[in-house]
Amino acid sequence: MSDGTFPSWVLRHGLMRGAMTLGARRGELQSRLMFDPELRADPYPAYAQMRRLGAVYRTPVGAFVATQHASVSAVLRDDAFRVGIAESDAPWLLKRSLARNLVEGARIVGPMDPPSMLAVNPPRHTGYRRLVQKVFTPRAVAGLEKGIEATVHEILDRLAARAGVVDLVEEFCSTLPVTVIADILGVPADVRKDFLAWGNAAGGSLDVGLSLPEYRAVEWGLRNINEWLYGHIETLRRDPGDDFLSRLIQAEDGGARLNDTELLATAGLLLAAGFETTVNLLGSAVVLLLDRPDQLAAAKADPTLWANVVEETLRFEAPVQRTARYAAQETEVAGRRIPAGSFITVQLAAANRDEAVFEDGERFDITRPNAREHLSFSAGVHYCLGANLARSESRIGLQALFDRFPDLALAGRPRLRRTRTLRGYRAVPVLPGPQRRRFAA
Ligand code: HEM
Repeated sequence: MSDGTFPSWVLRHGLMRGAMTLGARRGELQSRLMFDPELRADPYPAYAQMRRLGAVYRTPVGAFVATQHASVSAVLRDDAFRVGIAESDAPWLLKRSLARNLVEGARIVGPMDPPSMLAVNPPRHTGYRRLVQKVFTPRAVAGLEKGIEATVHEILDRLAARAGVVDLVEEFCSTLPVTVIADILGVPADVRKDFLAWGNAAGGSLDVGLSLPEYRAVEWGLRNINEWLYGHIETLRRDPGDDFLSRLIQAEDGGARLNDTELLATAGLLLAAGFETTVNLLGSAVVLLLDRPDQLAAAKADPTLWANVVEETLRFEAPVQRTARYAAQETEVAGRRIPAGSFITVQLAAANRDEAVFEDGERFDITRPNAREHLSFSAGVHYCLGANLARSESRIGLQALFDRFPDLALAGRPRLRRTRTLRGYRAVPVLPGPQRRRFAA
């Protein structure tokens, strides 16, 4: 293996994988979440156990974990906590796994590498966010809805033309968000399929302790996304179009333009965040509804419920299960002192089923009045920039899917992705059944 992948994998994931395998054997919950196949299929009993261990508790390796709704929300909103693990006291192995730039200052910039918005803090973060947020305001997204509806129906027309069993993830759940974000950013139609393949491969970049084949796949995906974007940015610099990326290249914040690495990180994050998450939301919603005919019937009977179907799915099956921070200064959460430099895992999916906020939290209920209080879009300064867009496209997409295919049925066992931080289905075999009509009445 002369390309350096193996030594880089050993440093970034292999050693950590070994440590976590031992941890999992000893029953340590964080490690089991990463490795135990039973917990991959159903992590929720482990999350309930974590909540019982305390609002914030300390693992045997010295890192903290926030588990309950109030403590997760407090960590995300507390300025003492920062992103960017490199400056934390996290175990050396964990830092190596998560902070690519410690190992290689390469041209590859992943979603968790600076200068991605997810990996930088204010004031740098504030500047990047200001440049892109206007595209995603509620008003801007409302203006996109007609186009999203047209995209949804084009995709469903193609689905209607398919005979026999189809994989709904491939034919609908992934195609919709990738088309929507690619349209916004101005990514040409002919590379969208490639983006899907690269994005699927790169999805594991948020996990720690990857196996060598998983690591190779992640690197392949990220390298391809990066190379394509570099070329595309160069083209748009010479010959700008009327798309968001061309405008971003020209945009100035306080007199400074984004450099190539910043442009790459921002565009790459929007693309990746734009479809690697929403695909999981759509797939989970379809499976949850097909498994629960009473809930599906309720949504069909009262279409105003579709917005809450989206919220309850986000609460029940968080597409991003966890995130992390470190304490830049000493602080306190849920009465517990957190020393400066501490690393803390923030369990979004555990918070979403906290009985202190969600009555009967382990039950999927599309009429739940406070479903929207979930923390699946995070909170505080890194609150998901695409939340409005994800909500709109999912509501429009799900309503149209079940309206046009009233007999849609599972035709096999849905298969989960292997990723642990991102949770969702990689395949949902269905029989679309006869379709009703082109547009909702
Ligand atoms: C169901 C769909 C989605 C989910 C569950 C989701 C979830 C999240 C979460 C949890 C974070 C914050 C992570 C943290 O605090 O460490 C985040 C940030 C972000 N999301 Fe989303 N996201 C979704 C869709 C989207 C879409 C459609 C876009 C854009 C096109 C997007 C763009 C972003 C960006 C740019 C950030 C970084 C914001 C910042 O650091 O200031 N997301 N998302």
